Amino acid sequence: MNRTYEYILSKIKNKPEIGIILGSGLGNLASQINDPIEINYKDIPDFPTSSVKGHSGKLIFGKLSGKNLVAMQGRIHYYEGQGIDKTVFPTKILCQLGIKYLIVTNACGGVNTSFNPGDLMLIKDHINFTGVNPLIGPNDDKIGPRFPDQSFTYNKDLRDIAKNAAKELNFELKEGVYMWFTGPVYETPAEVRMARIVGADAVGMSTVPEVIVANHRGVKILGISAITNMAAGILDKPLNHEEVIDVSSKIQDKFENLVKKVIEKM
Ligand code: HPA
Repeated sequence: MNRTYEYILSKIKNKPEIGIILGSGLGNLASQINDPIEINYKDIPDFPTSSVKGHSGKLIFGKLSGKNLVAMQGRIHYYEGQGIDKTVFPTKILCQLGIKYLIVTNACGGVNTSFNPGDLMLIKDHINFTGVNPLIGPNDDKIGPRFPDQSFTYNKDLRDIAKNAAKELNFELKEGVYMWFTGPVYETPAEVRMARIVGADAVGMSTVPEVIVANHRGVKILGISAITNMAAGILDKPLNHEEVIDVSSKIQDKFENLVKKVIEKM
């Protein structure tokens, strides 16, 4: 981890205060970053690279709405098979670089039937039903507690900021619980019904590992999900990745305006 950290440090001018992980089809926000310094994942020692279409991998350091930030364009998903440690490695580096806030974003399937594809959902909590946890293993007490509290993982002040920003931008921001499935399969209709019964509003294949790690390290978290499709079995049609990318690119503007306004108010 240290040579990764040292390499990145040698390339940047300012340490970031905010980290943002850009989900499927939401990577465009990176083009709005001022004075950007781009580092390809493949050029960073020990940094894992993502293999998924629509997830080109680079870190972009710079300023957005006047704040120093680093954006991850492309994330590693657990389903890629590199293991949970690689999945959360970039988040650990962001934390080591000193971010105080992490904005996590993703594309996901709507479980709550009052949602529509194209909606943005503020994550208020999550369900990890996978049996996978990135903190399993020895704990370094200097980094965080052995048994981290998750009662306030999705910071209330940041959520209020996001709600106000959406109000100013004149759109309805949904709020709900995100349930992590490992993927790479989309859920079955029965799993989606189960997800609804246990209290999920959306299902997806990312975000939760990074959130667990950042919360362990005391970073304040804001989660924004793009509902790209209704989850399996809700509508009488099959799901596919092209639709996910298509819908998330259509809501880029709404998403970008929201994130910029949120960062302005942070
Ligand atoms: N399920 C899981 N992950 C997803 C979905 C979904 O329906 N849509 C986009 N990512």
